[in-house]
Amino acid sequence: MIHCIGAGPGDPGYLTLRAAELLAAADVVAGFDAVLEVARPHFPRDCMVIPMNYRDQSARLAEVALLHHAGKRCVVVFMGDIHFSGFQFLERIDKACGHPVETIPGISSAQILASRARVCFDETTFITFHRRGDIEPFQRHLLHVLQDGRNAIVIPRPWDFMPRDISAYLMNEGIAPNHSVEVWEQLTRGEANWSGELHECTAEFSDMSILLIRALTPFPSQIHSSP
Ligand SMILES: C[S@@+](CC[C@H](N)C(=O)[O-])C[C@H]1O[C@@H](n2cnc3c(N)ncnc32)[C@H](O)[C@@H]1O
Repeated sequence: MIHCIGAGPGDPGYLTLRAAELLAAADVVAGFDAVLEVARPHFPRDCMVIPMNYRDQSARLAEVALLHHAGKRCVVVFMGDIHFSGFQFLERIDKACGHPVETIPGISSAQILASRARVCFDETTFITFHRRGDIEPFQRHLLHVLQDGRNAIVIPRPWDFMPRDISAYLMNEGIAPNHSVEVWEQLTRGEANWSGELHECTAEFSDMSILLIRALTPFPSQIHSSP
């Protein structure tokens, strides 16, 4: 049996009860080091831990798949929620196991950002650049989102498409420089945040940062009244 769980944004208080139950019953727990630390208080001391990094993840996932097929209860831990900026890793797990695996949602950094910055999901599009391969289609999508008057919650790509590169790209493509922008770092873990306008977003931020770019003029549906 294998479950993929979201560990939340970093503070252990945001790991769900369902994730904690699965960890407590696990024979094998796998994941990147930082997320294993969030999960560690919940899994048994004697369970097998399979840490991994970007370079060795395929080999480590193959080990997890073997243990899963041998009948061990395996849990693979993801940062935040699996369903935002986690699918390339999920697809590697499906491939290693030879079938689609079960996912248990977690609390995403995007949800914490929405709460801190008070932004409505209905009026917001999530885009991640934290991915392998060509990001050009996602860059075009971000332009369309802003042109349509929607907010964008954006995960940058370390280190070639960070907040200041995103701002420069958008302005170069004709997006107005006076959009409000917020950059949040280390949400739930000693947070820092910056806010200003798109043209002022020139500083360097860590790889644990996420952006909110607010719509300049609200989309017609963005009227916060009751139905
Ligand atoms: C591969 S993505 C995974 C996102 C995750 N699935 C989620 O739902 O938050 C990793 C990136 O998400 C962003 N991120 C994750 N947790 C964060 C946090 N607590 N504060 C700020 N950014 C965060 C950072 O940009 C980080 O490099």
